[in-house]
Amino acid sequence: MTPRKIIIDTDPGQDDAVAILLALASPAEIAVLGITAVAGNVPLPLTEKNTRIVCELAGRPDVKVFAGCDAPLSRPLVTAEHVHGKTGLDGPQMADPTMPLQDQHAVDFIIQTLREEPAGTVTLVPVGPLTNIATAFQRAPDIIPRVQEIVLMGGAYFEVGNITPAAEFNIYVDPEAAKIVFDAGVPLVVMPLDVTHKALTTKTRIDAFRAMGTKVGDMVAAWTDFFERFDMEKYGSEGAPLHDPCTIAYLIQPQLFSGRQINVEIETSSELTLGMTVADWWGITDRPKNALFIGDLDAEGFYALLAERLARL
Ligand code: BDR
Ligand code: CA
Repeated sequence: MTPRKIIIDTDPGQDDAVAILLALASPAEIAVLGITAVAGNVPLPLTEKNTRIVCELAGRPDVKVFAGCDAPLSRPLVTAEHVHGKTGLDGPQMADPTMPLQDQHAVDFIIQTLREEPAGTVTLVPVGPLTNIATAFQRAPDIIPRVQEIVLMGGAYFEVGNITPAAEFNIYVDPEAAKIVFDAGVPLVVMPLDVTHKALTTKTRIDAFRAMGTKVGDMVAAWTDFFERFDMEKYGSEGAPLHDPCTIAYLIQPQLFSGRQINVEIETSSELTLGMTVADWWGITDRPKNALFIGDLDAEGFYALLAERLARL
């Protein structure tokens, strides 16, 4: 099997970090062409730095990391330190990275890669606000039909919102960018809160990371320990949702997930429901189906995959 070529677009974030580790631990299935950082959970200088910390932790200082947009297309940045801590990767102590940040802007890297690689062979995996991807699509519309697929974390239907009563964080931060991406006509797989809220850590699952007896296992356990306090307090849930790794797990083992091909529109003007993903789960309209909207996963299988892969690093 030829590994699938992907660009991860990210705003680490503990769950972003686990997504990156899972991808780098799976070279038979996934070839990471580069990782592009965007402003989101924390401002851009921290998300690009955190991305490099994670690559070094994976033993992969050779991975190309690019800094992208430092603010949404037309709104001030909203961040989520209340979830991820001041650094975005709060939890364990971490040294500053020494691997370089690429000089090229993330958006230019996305455009260049999609133009250079054969059409239909590069998948985009955005797990933060969609600003970098939308900017690339706006600046170079010729790349849009060249994208193989977009597999993103964002939105919600049954779970509604986590940053406002109606909206999920990644979409809320840059709804105009999300609208551009959802309307682009690229095959789209969406991991909304509906599925990620079923990918919950438990004591047993975190203990399995710690039991690896590796630096990666210890870091992931410490990150999830920190990250889970927020959801446990807010939702009274057993643990924390590992949102972003669902995208990478889908690329490796799609059979772990199920969903529906439906129409999803992004609300960009309402004050109350800004950033809502209006998902036609029940097929009420005849609006064109533009996304595979995932609703369920095999959580045991997902955590088994994570444990098996992270143990390789
Ligand atoms: C999303 O928002 C961020 O806080 C997480 O990293 C994830 O991408 C969940 O709403
Ligand atoms: Ca994220």
